Amino acid sequence: MVKKNNSYEKLIQADNLPCHIAIIMDGNGRWAHKRLLPRTMGHRAGMNTLKEIVRACSDLGIKILTVYAFSTENWKRPWEEVDYLMKLLVEFLRKEINELNQNQVRIKVLGNYNSLPLVCQAEIEDAINTTNNNSGLLFNIALNYGSRQEILGAVKNLAQQIASGEINPDMISEESISRQLYTKDIPDPDLLIRTAGEMRISNFLLWQIAYTELWITECLWPEFTKDDLLHAIWDYQQRDRRFGGLNSERQDEINA
Ligand code: FPP
Repeated sequence: MVKKNNSYEKLIQADNLPCHIAIIMDGNGRWAHKRLLPRTMGHRAGMNTLKEIVRACSDLGIKILTVYAFSTENWKRPWEEVDYLMKLLVEFLRKEINELNQNQVRIKVLGNYNSLPLVCQAEIEDAINTTNNNSGLLFNIALNYGSRQEILGAVKNLAQQIASGEINPDMISEESISRQLYTKDIPDPDLLIRTAGEMRISNFLLWQIAYTELWITECLWPEFTKDDLLHAIWDYQQRDRRFGGLNSERQDEINA
């Protein structure tokens, strides 16, 4: 299929939207490098893309959007870049909170945000509290998030419960592990989008994406548009999700 401007809008089936979309927003640095700009300008452009994509998801009626904004490994970057990302987060929340709230967007954070600068923590708490009763898009921002650390925390909690006699090992199930994760009460992502072409998961939602459809584009995050999002959704709608089973045609062949 040849992509034209705004070509995917008409192709989307409104009754088969992914309930939960997760995004690894990669390529800010490369976008800036191509333009001889500092990396921070790439992140600023990335923030503008994020605004557009949250709005697009909300308008489309997507139920849950989860974005990977800062990983536990991102602390290894130069402190100037980390500092800029923290300031951008504050700027984003301050500037966008009113529109997000008006659009019934509910903000949540996945990850341990207690180790972020105090000003970030205050802005996050404010955004969560302000939007807590909203009924529209659930917008999860993964901040200081690492999936292995999340699973490690779940294992430790369950081990603690066994040690205290609260549960026995036979009581541990997939559901009881899921309940220990930041994503408890949230269905697993249906679609994971990664921009900037890398074929890896980078410690993002490892437990939750067991049956998620992956869509990777060469497009750098600051250049990602609503039509790219619609392209990913269209592609998702062409897939045959079998969750390890058979589709109905194959099932009929066996029954014949
Ligand atoms: C990866 O690009 C991107 C990040 C580590 C940060 C994502 C942040 C934003 C999109 C900014 C806005 C976010 C908020 C919540 C305000 P990279 O720097 O690894 O790019 P590269 O691989 O091309 O160097």
